Amino acid sequence: MTAHLKFDKPDARNRLDDMAQGVIGAPLERSEGALKVTGRAVYAAEQARSLHGAAHAAPAYGVLVRATIPKGRVLSLGREAVLAMAGVRAVLADACFLRNPAQGTAGKAPVQGPEEVAYYGQPIALVVADSFEQARDGAQRLVVRYAEEGGALDPEAVTPELPEKKQSAQGDLDRAMREAAFSIDVSYTTPSMAAAAMEPHCVIATWTGDQLLCHGSYQMPNYNAPELADSLGVPAEKVRIVSPYVGGGFGSKLGIGPEAVAAAFAARELGCTVSVALSRPQEFEAITRRSATSQRVRLAADAEGRLTGLGHEALVSNLPDESFSEPVAQATHFTYAAAHRQIVHRIARVNLTPAGSVRAPGEAVGVLVFEAAMDELAEAAGIDPVELRLRNIPDADPETGKPFSSNMLAEALRDGAQRFGWQARQPAGTRREGEWLVGMGMASAVRVNMLGEAKARVTLSPEGTALVETNMTDIGTGTYTILTQIAAELLGLPMQAVTTHLGDSALPDGPGSGGSWGAASTGSAVALACEAIRVRIAGLMGCDEEELTLKDGRAICGNVTRPLPELLTEALQEEGHLEPGEAGKAVRNATFGAHFAEVAVNAVTGEVRVRRMEGAFACGRILNAKTARSQCLGGMTFGIGMALMEEMIHDARDGHIVNHDLAEYHVPTNADVPQLEVHFLDERDAYGGTLQAKGIGELGICGAGGAIVNAIYNACGVRVRDMPVTLDKVL
Ligand code: MOS
Repeated sequence: MTAHLKFDKPDARNRLDDMAQGVIGAPLERSEGALKVTGRAVYAAEQARSLHGAAHAAPAYGVLVRATIPKGRVLSLGREAVLAMAGVRAVLADACFLRNPAQGTAGKAPVQGPEEVAYYGQPIALVVADSFEQARDGAQRLVVRYAEEGGALDPEAVTPELPEKKQSAQGDLDRAMREAAFSIDVSYTTPSMAAAAMEPHCVIATWTGDQLLCHGSYQMPNYNAPELADSLGVPAEKVRIVSPYVGGGFGSKLGIGPEAVAAAFAARELGCTVSVALSRPQEFEAITRRSATSQRVRLAADAEGRLTGLGHEALVSNLPDESFSEPVAQATHFTYAAAHRQIVHRIARVNLTPAGSVRAPGEAVGVLVFEAAMDELAEAAGIDPVELRLRNIPDADPETGKPFSSNMLAEALRDGAQRFGWQARQPAGTRREGEWLVGMGMASAVRVNMLGEAKARVTLSPEGTALVETNMTDIGTGTYTILTQIAAELLGLPMQAVTTHLGDSALPDGPGSGGSWGAASTGSAVALACEAIRVRIAGLMGCDEEELTLKDGRAICGNVTRPLPELLTEALQEEGHLEPGEAGKAVRNATFGAHFAEVAVNAVTGEVRVRRMEGAFACGRILNAKTARSQCLGGMTFGIGMALMEEMIHDARDGHIVNHDLAEYHVPTNADVPQLEVHFLDERDAYGGTLQAKGIGELGICGAGGAIVNAIYNACGVRVRDMPVTLDKVL
């Protein structure tokens, strides 16, 4: 049976708060944690081990060959010399010419012809050999001839598109600027960035007849299986993708990658299992980057610091024909009130690695810059930065007039300021400890919140154990744990009695891990299935579901208590199905928070050290206090990277990525990350599915870098507007 809920009206029931066990929300350890730290969790590339078993022929290994021009056509590959090399089985150049693999656009086949090159690093061929080393050797020895065409490489130098749907204006911003008591008009830039997940992409593809099985590392198997099927020209039900463990995604695994198409195609051609893994440089070159941005922010305020006008103009870049573009001003539409508003979104079409979703697309860079501009306004107006934000929080979405589903920005600002000790902040450039200049900065945190369609199946056995199944993934976020908690809570079972299976496209369709929608969406589906099972148990007990308590493996109604194994003669199985429906359309749904940072800037070298950060967040019901906190610690760490080090550098001559590995592309490591404090505000959001929850994963990023940039100004009086703030720019 399916418990289907079309979420057409908000759900204000608070029944999870009344559950008997206190499992939901508890800071429990990851249920799969022991498997991961002992190496027993098998990641995609490691599946090759099991495929060496007697039942399978040894797999072949494929290595992708990348284009070394930014734009043009492949004339010839020089296949023959490589085919003559020891162990080489094939040089394929058909379906593996996938230009735009990682966008997460379900069902879209590659848009370009096979021999067109659109960017440096684009996969153009696959060399398959008996061993990985032979394949890599062959790939390096392929001599490709091209007909080069001039590519566009500088986003600032091309005439940008202005898609009509992405522009908005209300009132007269120019007039508001002229008449303002205080105004600022500032421009910032942020560089291209890499998702830089720890686990590179890998697929092991096996055909059994016309059925394809791919072990891979993906965020959304539900969508990835039909994407791959479409690329191969086979029906969706012929493709199964299995991704039980994902070593980080950060947007890079939202869609299928070139390795999946190449491996599946080669396996079909050669009639054997084929494994294709990306090298670290290929991760940077052939997997979507976050677009670089140029942003202009205009702010006009009256004498009390109330915004009368705001403008946010962004230039982003992508390949020709790509539908995605970094939605820089996504949160600007609703974060602050102002009668006169203008948002401009320009897209430069360039021949660089395609741009896609990376960790909070839009807000990660947009909120960073907007909050830095707010700091500039606070300074210009002589108003405390926290106070400036408090004075400008709207009662409802300022553009549409829709109410917020919930909005605790003011509470987060006050809570964070108090915990951080914001009142000790001093005027810019006045606090010195030896050669270190010390400063404090803050920023609001904002991120849109979404629900996705989700299904989950729950089976309660007569022995009193439960199985939760959905093709949702756990990309390191804690999905296994929270879904296990939800079932344990609602079915009154100990955590150990519940098993959760994820990441297999053959299981009921989850929404995948993206846009921070996974927990609330899939969690609601699990809860719906469990509630349907509760109704059946209540029936067996002869009482109403509302009167039923399930606790410690027993069913309790009034003064009757029966252990589940005694009560159940057969397994009870239900499927939960959450459909977003109409509820969310009447409101602006977002998560809010506040970041505070203290930094020290070395007066001699310009080196910046983050000393401490405090984050206060409101994300609806917290399903697991520990994994939720870890999400925010990760987000704040990304904020440090965005403020201080992350920068993908494109060679100006051909667009190739110069720093295409984790030695040269700097991300924060242990010594860069000080004590980070995270505090969640108590919030329930009736629009957050049946759990009243919202997304967490990306909120911790949004604004975190802004707090650091603002703290740097407070420390040393230098306003760096080109990210990242490296020491050469501070000096
Ligand atoms: Mo995310 S950037 O939707 O994985």
